[in-house]
Amino acid sequence: MAKKLYIETQGCQMNEYDSSRMADLLGDSHGMELTSNPEEADVLLLNTCSIREKAQEKVFSELGRWRKLKEARPDIVIGVGGCVASQEGEGIQKRAPYVDLVFGPQTLHRLPKMLDAPKGNKITVVDVSFPEIEKFDYLPEPRVDGFKAYVSIMEGCSKYCTFCVVPYTRGEEVSRPFDDVIAEIAVLASKGVREVTLLGQNVNGYRGPHHDDTICSFAELLRHVAEIPGIDRIRYTTSHPLEFNDDLIAVYADTPKLVSHLHLPVQSGANAVLAGMKRNHTAADYLERIRKLKSVRPDIFISSDFIIGFPGETDRDFEETMDLIAEVGFDHSYSFIYSKRPGTPAAEMPDDTPDDVKKVRLQILKDRITQHTGRLTESLVGTRQRVLVEKKSERFDNHLVGVTEHNRLVHFPWPDDSLLGRFADLDIAGTININALRADAPVWTEN
Ligand code: SAH
Ligand code: F3S
Repeated sequence: MAKKLYIETQGCQMNEYDSSRMADLLGDSHGMELTSNPEEADVLLLNTCSIREKAQEKVFSELGRWRKLKEARPDIVIGVGGCVASQEGEGIQKRAPYVDLVFGPQTLHRLPKMLDAPKGNKITVVDVSFPEIEKFDYLPEPRVDGFKAYVSIMEGCSKYCTFCVVPYTRGEEVSRPFDDVIAEIAVLASKGVREVTLLGQNVNGYRGPHHDDTICSFAELLRHVAEIPGIDRIRYTTSHPLEFNDDLIAVYADTPKLVSHLHLPVQSGANAVLAGMKRNHTAADYLERIRKLKSVRPDIFISSDFIIGFPGETDRDFEETMDLIAEVGFDHSYSFIYSKRPGTPAAEMPDDTPDDVKKVRLQILKDRITQHTGRLTESLVGTRQRVLVEKKSERFDNHLVGVTEHNRLVHFPWPDDSLLGRFADLDIAGTININALRADAPVWTEN
């Protein structure tokens, strides 16, 4: 019988992507099948996140549960990958000696070998190195599940924002070769994928080598991806405002397949805080980029990341963040209270803002952005939107759900499943909630 693999993924889309690759790899090398039930798994992998302290704590509480499984079935293999593995290395096994494997985000392709390594009482394998970008050379063709896929185009980050662990856990920026990215997307397209999300910690820093050793920029890559037959929607995440340059804005002007939705983290609207974070731009620089982008894509929705309570953030700084939010009218945000990460420069900065004050600021910010989310959803009522039809509606009988390029769900009547994985044009009739809309039957459907 095929061995069963259980993977729990914490954190960002990069980790989701890496987890799918782990499943592909072990499916290929060991014939393993994924299970959603940890109790029946032979191999359990935890793909971890260390971006904030809370994320890191979750690792050991989950491992505590898995320890019980191992007590009952000592033959199971427990592996820990991802950024906590990268940061803690052998420390993981010191705290949780029942863990068999520790591997970093760049060495997951070595999993099959690590699994086969002799597993004596105390022999464990720790491999958290950053061997350039070899992992991609060892991965099997991606398995496809649905109409949307993630594609990693680069790894790591060289920006070293003062609060962030990513450059230490994932290493410096390394781009995948242009041909490899295009080939992977072409394979996905041949298997029915219609929408790709290009992934990286800093995708607009993409500098992928062509086979003649010239360098492909992110803007150029986007234009090439748009030419792949079958791929009709392109998203990407995450990008950095500093490299959100005019070339990239020009792609928005001439490449409709690039969606009218952008996630562009700003972190703060106060110049003093931005400087302390080493973001290397001002609030005005950010607004200037957005203004330029909106001049070529007036209908674009913009989401962002904010850190509240960075060391030294004053009430006035927070107001400046709220001013920026009012000005841009963000659609959505991932906002968190600053979390001190060991080994980062900001961890040494004096931080005298009380936690209560930070919590109030965060709530004010979240409430304001939620208001914008609702307003932007309402703004689509009365417009015609193209959706990628993704699933059956659980809310209404004989309805399907499509997703607009702005990531809004639209429920519309349709008698069967025939439109799944295809595009349709819908006249938006009204809202269901702050993220969902309803429409009448399509005015156009793809054959
Ligand atoms: N490459 C992206 C960010 C990747 S990390 C960029 O250009 O900003 C994802 C998000 O986690 C960040 O945008 C930040 O908002 C948040 N984050 C990172 N470190 C954090 C910390 N120490 N405390 C709180 N939030 C943090
Ligand atoms: Fe982190 Fe800044 Fe890079 S937030 S991922 S160091 S751009």
